[in-house]
Amino acid sequence: MWRANLISLFGVSVEAYRAALRQCQRLPALNALAVSPPLLKLLRELGLSEPVLASGPSCHFMTDDLCHAGGVDKAPPHQDWRTMQGSLDGCVIWLPLTAIDAASYPLEVVPGSHRQGLLDTVPHPVTPAVNDTGVRDEDYVPVMVEPGDVVAFSGFLVHRTGAQGDQRIRLALSLRYNNLVEPSFIERGYKTPHEPGCQLELMVENFPTAKQVQAIYTSDD
Ligand SMILES: [Fe+2]
Repeated sequence: MWRANLISLFGVSVEAYRAALRQCQRLPALNALAVSPPLLKLLRELGLSEPVLASGPSCHFMTDDLCHAGGVDKAPPHQDWRTMQGSLDGCVIWLPLTAIDAASYPLEVVPGSHRQGLLDTVPHPVTPAVNDTGVRDEDYVPVMVEPGDVVAFSGFLVHRTGAQGDQRIRLALSLRYNNLVEPSFIERGYKTPHEPGCQLELMVENFPTAKQVQAIYTSDD
């Protein structure tokens, strides 16, 4: 049922679909998972002695019905560090929420590519796409995982969404972390592209009216 709902919402408005996904990312359970003791322990074992979230959780819904019109939401080859720009040892955790096989848009990674550092990119609607001729199609390895597995990788690892998918919904969650004690992060004054900023203009003009606000409260509130 929820698959049908997703597809119907996508059909009505891609903008509303994307906004609904953004709200999923605000779910308390997903945010609690992001700071759960087992994940923090894993990050510390990977060398992030003072892990902090670089951004909120990202949900990745993939199904072929939602990938028309130019591959909506299918990530091109990219490195998350470019959008994190935090500690050099920044880490990505990718959690499958459905079983992943070769035909369900698997995460594909290029082993060892993180050692090349930050690669050049070209603009792409989803995220800046790595534009490096040294990264070849045959270098990608699909990651077959099941719910309960955890994939952790450097922010510099080149990865992408696999091209093969079908009508099943492939659902995954990705989380990004920085390490507060990484020296270059400290030297750069903890500057990241995720500084607080907000839209101060009203997004919907003349909303809400006093009447709409009053309707929320009873006379006792
Ligand atoms: Fe990514």
